[in-house]
Amino acid sequence: MKYKRILLKISGEALAGEAGYGLDHDVLTRIAEEIKQVQRAGIELGIVCGGGNIFRGMKAAAERGMDRAMADYMGMLATVQNAIALQDYLERTGVVTRVLTAIEMKEIAEPFIPRRANRHLEKGRVVIFAAGTGNPFFTTDTAAVLRAAQINAQAIFKATDVDGIFDRDPQKFADAIRYDKLSYLQVLDRGLKVLDSTAVSLSMDNKIPIVVFNMEVEGNITRAAMGENVGTTVSDQASST
Ligand code: GTP
Repeated sequence: MKYKRILLKISGEALAGEAGYGLDHDVLTRIAEEIKQVQRAGIELGIVCGGGNIFRGMKAAAERGMDRAMADYMGMLATVQNAIALQDYLERTGVVTRVLTAIEMKEIAEPFIPRRANRHLEKGRVVIFAAGTGNPFFTTDTAAVLRAAQINAQAIFKATDVDGIFDRDPQKFADAIRYDKLSYLQVLDRGLKVLDSTAVSLSMDNKIPIVVFNMEVEGNITRAAMGENVGTTVSDQASST
């Protein structure tokens, strides 16, 4: 087994399935089942969920003129809804979980305390980190890297709806080429928008590799967590092309 402890980043949109909004029962059921397999394999797992299936702060600020900070707080609350949904689906498959929030809301979930998070992980509980970093102007990708650093995760797995990082948008260009690996600096230099630059810089500074892979392919979460070569790995190793 390649990894002992990992951080899985799931976008909010992924949870919406075909509808593009809200929560899709079949998607949540499948994700919960795959996460269960990872946990049963003995891998300690932290999860950061986005909130874009419910509310996207940056978009509301750009398109509707909302105050960015206020819009981001709404987005953070959306991630809490997703975290609770994921907790419910996971616990129904028999996976013990804890939700830890970056903004205190004790009636709903535990506050994020790094040492508690680590204790939960040591005990084999899946820890779902909600409410982003607790600060506006930060994305949930950045929250994922921050939490990965705080729990000493060996890698971040960013689940997307494409097979990795490509030289061009694979949904627009059929001849787009997928990279197997890229260095952090190559991702930044080439302006590859699969992760925001704050998240890439933070993972570079903390030497945490990021594996970008397609979660829509059944079994991919498990394959990626077991160290199989799915998607693109962003680390200090550069691609020659
Ligand atoms: P250990 O200390 O390792 O036994 O962990 P534990 O999480 O089982 O212990 P604890 O007694 O702290 O928590 C029991 C349950 O209460 C768990 O489901 C926690 O998620 C939940 N819990 C703990 N603190 C809070 C809190 O501040 N708010 C909410 N809503 N639940 C909490």
